Amino acid sequence: MPSSRFPLGRIALACATLICCGVAAWSQAANAPLAFTGADRRPALSLNGDWAYIVDPYFSGLFSFHHEEKKNGWFLNRKAQPGDTGPTEYDFDKAPKLKVPGDWNTQRESLFFYEGPIWYQRNFTYQPQAHSRVYLHVGAANYHSWWWVNGKRACEHEGGFTAFNCDVTEAVHAGDNFIVAAVDNTRREDNVPTLETDWWNYGGITREISLITVPNTFIDQYDLHLSPTEDGVIEGWAHLTGASAGAPVEVEIPELHAKAHATTNANGKAAIHFSVSGLERWSPEHPKLYAVTLHADADSINEQMGFRTIETRGTQILLNGKPVFLRGISIHAEAPYRTGRAWSDKDAETLLGWAKDLGCNFVRLAHYPHDETMQRAADRMGIMVWSENPVYWALKFDSPQVYDKASHQLEEEIGTLRNHASIILWSMANETPNNPTRTDFITRLAAKARELDNSRLITAALLVHAQGNTKIVDDPLGNVLDVIGVNEYIGWYEAHPETADVTQWDIRYDKPLIVSEFGGDAKAGLHGRDNDRWTEEYQANIYRHQIGMLNRIPQLRGMSPWLLMDFRSPNRPLAGIQDEFNRKGLISDQGEKKQAYYILQKAYKEGAVGKPE
Ligand code: GCU
Repeated sequence: MPSSRFPLGRIALACATLICCGVAAWSQAANAPLAFTGADRRPALSLNGDWAYIVDPYFSGLFSFHHEEKKNGWFLNRKAQPGDTGPTEYDFDKAPKLKVPGDWNTQRESLFFYEGPIWYQRNFTYQPQAHSRVYLHVGAANYHSWWWVNGKRACEHEGGFTAFNCDVTEAVHAGDNFIVAAVDNTRREDNVPTLETDWWNYGGITREISLITVPNTFIDQYDLHLSPTEDGVIEGWAHLTGASAGAPVEVEIPELHAKAHATTNANGKAAIHFSVSGLERWSPEHPKLYAVTLHADADSINEQMGFRTIETRGTQILLNGKPVFLRGISIHAEAPYRTGRAWSDKDAETLLGWAKDLGCNFVRLAHYPHDETMQRAADRMGIMVWSENPVYWALKFDSPQVYDKASHQLEEEIGTLRNHASIILWSMANETPNNPTRTDFITRLAAKARELDNSRLITAALLVHAQGNTKIVDDPLGNVLDVIGVNEYIGWYEAHPETADVTQWDIRYDKPLIVSEFGGDAKAGLHGRDNDRWTEEYQANIYRHQIGMLNRIPQLRGMSPWLLMDFRSPNRPLAGIQDEFNRKGLISDQGEKKQAYYILQKAYKEGAVGKPE
């Protein structure tokens, strides 16, 4: 990547304070963005492509020199007029372009390190339809984004990894329209995630964007899953916008000759419960998907869904009632080969294709909700998924506002991804400090997740402490989890690879355990002796000893070593080796498989690690 670094990052922090006071006023005014289920399955006008962009480190496109919010901000996309009494100091028609979807950091050398606001603008033509509403569907925009259509406010959103939908019905018109967005990836202490992360803070409109048209009464969210208690029963609900009590909802699964009817209650929600016969359950060995259609008034959604049950019994994880061992790998949403934020079907197929080739039946998608293309590919390919809310390291756990942000992101994650059979675990957090404020914060989040979806397991990746060569798993957060995740780096951040041979585990919970991270950095192609750090041999040696140790943990029910592919991180500057990449991948960002890849592949393919019961 680039030699000359453009110092924009340093300026961005200066504007952070400027933004916080303006935002509060903003959010009250605009439509609150909504989480829809199946929005990416709806007929849509794609807004992907080239967008004009203007870098605005001082956010002067929205705030005045007294940091009041401007009425005539850049969202008006104004053109200078003869006789103007003041200068117009921006022009999107003359501005360079960025590709959307896509982070800006890997598209422009000058933006590689940039953290701050950038304005986006494009034109589009549109024909409104009668009796319908129009929503701007954004797959994700990192981190804080403001949206206007034809100069009218549409919505504001915080959170870089979840999809949202803004009602723009009143703003669009027939013919030529324009859309303007301001996206700010400034890191702030009260963000979720907070200031420190071990991944690149890719900014921009990082996932697909479109306009979706729905009838005035439509299905905004629905949930369908196999009943964990009644055999052959599909249960769930559908919620309609624009409906009151008594509105009919129909669910159809033609291949099963199944049709069910329900009606909404006063809140527009219809409870669904019906029996099916001959259903083939979804599993990695048999990732069976059914065409499912939901009808409500003039609206319908077509989905491809699998049906399975997932539960625990003592220290076992049961998939469709049978004990299962999760042969996994952790994955960041880093795009193979081109690097940058992953978003496409191709990215998903490549990453999950490698996981399959490794012998995996499970992946941990870290540390934030990944693009829905990943879950759809996992449904098709038969790979179970751990999906995670970006409660990462030391959030401001004593802040109610930060709790609201984390809770809201969780709602969006579950609201959008709830019908993917591949997702078996909702992870609440990663490596958070063990203190009562944190424990209370995440205990409430876990309760929220159960409220939103009681058909899946709740987990988190915990830190462990040691006494001598004994690892102790007693973080109180384990009390509210169904499955305990633990991260350990024996042989890399602590001790030596061989230390794993003498390490005991003292696990204070009678629950299934997943070792959600272990590993070490290796530069692909760098070779040496087993104890030469950064070499493939050293990394392979870590894996050999880890596999031996893991097999001595009786309640181990899964593992997701850190990780599948090298990924960019600003914490990794070691020249000639890391070059701003975390090199713990089993595969380099250019697809080179390291020795450890084959060690894990052999263990997984021969069933030489882990036992389902
Ligand atoms: C941590 C953390 C990861 C990080 C990894 C590492 O455990 O969860 O996000 O990348 O360690 O240090 O490589």
